Amino acid sequence: MSRSELSDLEKVLKSLEFITSVRSFDDVLSIFGLDNLPTAQKYGIIFGIITFTVTVSAVLALLVMGGSFKRIAEQAKTGGVSMPDAIEERVTRPLLLERLLEAQEFLLKKYPAVQKTEGMTPLMKMLVNIAPDVAKAQEMTANFMVKNESDKKKKDEKLKAFIPEGYEQNYISAYRRCQDKPGGATISGMPEARFEAYARAFAGCGSYTSTSYRRSYARMYEAVACNNHSTEKQYREHWLERPGDIVGRTIRLEPLDSKRHLKDFFAMTCGDIYRANKSYDPQEVWAFYEDGPFDSPEKMKESFVFQREMNEAGFAIIESLTGNMVGAVYLTNDNPKNLSISLELPLVKPSSEGTVESIEACFLLLDRLFALGYRRVQLSVDSMDTKGKKLSGRLGFTQEGLIPKDRIIKESNRDSIIYGMLNSDWDKGARAFLFKKLHGEKAMKVDVKNEKSEAELEKQSTFIEGQKETDEPKE
Ligand SMILES: *[C@@H]1O[C@H](CO)[C@@H](O)[C@H](O)[C@H]1NC(C)=O
Ligand SMILES: *[C@@H]1O[C@H](CO)[C@@H](O)[C@H](O)[C@H]1NC(C)=O
Ligand SMILES: *[C@@H]1O[C@H](CO)[C@@H](O)[C@H](O)[C@H]1NC(C)=O
Ligand SMILES: *[C@@H]1O[C@H](CO)[C@@H](O)[C@H](O)[C@H]1NC(C)=O
Repeated sequence: MSRSELSDLEKVLKSLEFITSVRSFDDVLSIFGLDNLPTAQKYGIIFGIITFTVTVSAVLALLVMGGSFKRIAEQAKTGGVSMPDAIEERVTRPLLLERLLEAQEFLLKKYPAVQKTEGMTPLMKMLVNIAPDVAKAQEMTANFMVKNESDKKKKDEKLKAFIPEGYEQNYISAYRRCQDKPGGATISGMPEARFEAYARAFAGCGSYTSTSYRRSYARMYEAVACNNHSTEKQYREHWLERPGDIVGRTIRLEPLDSKRHLKDFFAMTCGDIYRANKSYDPQEVWAFYEDGPFDSPEKMKESFVFQREMNEAGFAIIESLTGNMVGAVYLTNDNPKNLSISLELPLVKPSSEGTVESIEACFLLLDRLFALGYRRVQLSVDSMDTKGKKLSGRLGFTQEGLIPKDRIIKESNRDSIIYGMLNSDWDKGARAFLFKKLHGEKAMKVDVKNEKSEAELEKQSTFIEGQKETDEPKE
């Protein structure tokens, strides 16, 4: 039988035969034809081999345990572009021991995969503005012939089905309040524009938010929408098309939707030249996230960026002036039982980090959450993320503690710093602090004054309503 005809199994057996036939070091030396050396030299060779083996295995062990092979591969990919220190430190962090990663994989298998969705989660549905379904209502009325009074009544009845609960009442009361005490100067030729803008924003906040919040949101919306003729048109048209969006001064929040946002979001965070900005290392965006950078938009679509658990929410941050996407902001761990929820720092391109736009995105969400009754908003930041820690402070969050070994991110350890914002902090000054930062001191003072007079007006009108009711003769 020739060598090439040996089966694989036979080859294996043959190799084992060789190993088992080696019984002493002399046998090894005899293989190399060195069996009749003086004893001292034999020991020298033994010692040399041992030292060599120990050194090689130690180096290999360190490389593997420290994850350097992986790291070297990752670093080769980034092509040596210089990175900010904190990110450099993060990207070159040691990976977890193989044994722990295996344990993680094994232990995770106990549970079915968590249900995720790319569409609107219940939390997102609750947070967005409400509005009459104008498109459906128009469709209905288009096929509805009105010939007499009773037809008209029927039609109105049917139209009511397209108006969310409480919307009409809120709209009317807000509109009346504006007629009594209009906000800014009237836009020429459009005497009602301010009333309408205010009322649709007020009613849009729904019936479950606090009235002081609704008034503040509506005043801000009215101010930006009714700046001049062109803004009025722009905001009215936007509302007709996308009434759910939460609108601020510099940005608006749109529920994340891969059809609408994937292309831009990928282009902006992949590190290539985007609009006016230079290219950069994508790790600047992704170093502190569980996933990313992504090779393709499809990969991004499958990731946490667009896939939400049921108690999470994701919003795209869109610049008001240009309509360009700036980034995204997320809420996680919604826990209505404890009235608590977590905010994640905005995921934005490097040039938008810590800008007014990112701060306003957080402000809009925080304000709405507290208006809905949440008592605690938590923020968990990677302890190595210096920019993230700075931003948490700038948002008025209080540092509460450090949690070592809190998470495993990209196969390595993450210690987290926990920040918290309580509803009492918000009311006592955190809100005013951010409002001032976003809108300026003057605007804040005007807002406080308006709030006082509107609250007074509302109190009077409810008092009069109450009087009317008690004046009515009882049966
Ligand atoms: C009104 O017109 C509808 C048909 O469009 C008819 O069925 C209905 O009986 C009319 N009602 C009255 C009160 O005339
Ligand atoms: C209207 O207001 C917007 C936003 O402040 C501004 O950018 C725009 O130039 C204004 N347009 C006119 C015609 O004044
Ligand atoms: C990126 O572009 C924006 C305008 O789109 C500009 O304000 C910003 O300074 C640019 N940043 C860099 C780093 O080029
Ligand atoms: C919040 O509520 C859950 C039940 O939903 C409870 O198990 C938990 O202990 C509470 N506290 C925190 C901090 O989550």
